[in-house]
Amino acid sequence: MIPVFEFKDVCFQYPGHDEFALQGFNVKLPQGEKIAVVGRNGSGKSTFFLHCNGLYRPNSGGVFFKGESLAYDRKALRQLRQQVGLAFQNPDDQIFSANVFQDISFGPLNLDLDEDEVRHRVQSAAEACGITHLLQRPTHALSGGEKARVALAGVLAMEPEVLIADEPMTSLDPWARLSIFEIFERFHEQGKTIVMATHSLSVVRYWSSYVIVLQAGRVTFSGTPKELLNNPRVLEETGLSKIWWKVDPAFPENGAADF
Ligand SMILES: Nc1ncnc2c1ncn2[C@@H]1O[C@H](COP(=O)(O)OP(=O)(O)OP(=O)(O)O)[C@@H](O)[C@H]1O
Ligand SMILES: [Mg+2]
Repeated sequence: MIPVFEFKDVCFQYPGHDEFALQGFNVKLPQGEKIAVVGRNGSGKSTFFLHCNGLYRPNSGGVFFKGESLAYDRKALRQLRQQVGLAFQNPDDQIFSANVFQDISFGPLNLDLDEDEVRHRVQSAAEACGITHLLQRPTHALSGGEKARVALAGVLAMEPEVLIADEPMTSLDPWARLSIFEIFERFHEQGKTIVMATHSLSVVRYWSSYVIVLQAGRVTFSGTPKELLNNPRVLEETGLSKIWWKVDPAFPENGAADF
């Protein structure tokens, strides 16, 4: 099957910076999987995601969506973003309308859907994210976790084929996390692909069906969680061998799961 995304030798430098944020970056994201992307702070997870929806463009190398090289004209980007929804790491980078309803409806309105359909999409995305009570609130008057859910609802309302979420659980309480996992489950049941950056090794082990490990702007591993656990070289190189047992609920003496 054609991978949903393929990166071939991608290099990327932030303008004015000497170091490469991505360097010789090669990966294939298999379609219909629940993909966890892990790596230390600064390893390139967010930069990778921002390439997936064409917000950043590689200095060299290529990004392919369903086998086609990305094009960066307005029309192509619009089509791409209809199919690839990205929930940013920081919801403040995503929320810019005055109130919650307007914010979630912004994307669907841009798809030229009629008003009833937009209203329906906003309502069901808000229900899924547990924020119907916030729809008339000004966006500046939301808590961090509420903002994260509004931003995710905005992405879901686009009904994308691929959902990319950049550490979506970070500011959420455990109840909200559970409901986001349920949303992801429904999304996955429709045969769609979910890509999630996470620092939770429990999510890697118990949620994901495929894992990508980043180190200093490169992909050092891609495969199933089982393959990762059975790969002492990668576990050692990434330092995961030192920390995994401390957070893995399979070791109950070390306390509860970390998500
Ligand atoms: N706007 C920016 N300008 C310059 N350098 C940046 C910018 N954003 C990120 N970087 C650098 O690019 C590299 C990759 O950063 P990125 O944000 O992709 O990492 P990350 O894996 O998402 O980290 P985190 O776990 O902290 O979210 C880092 O060295 C970072 O300092
Ligand atoms: Mg990041």
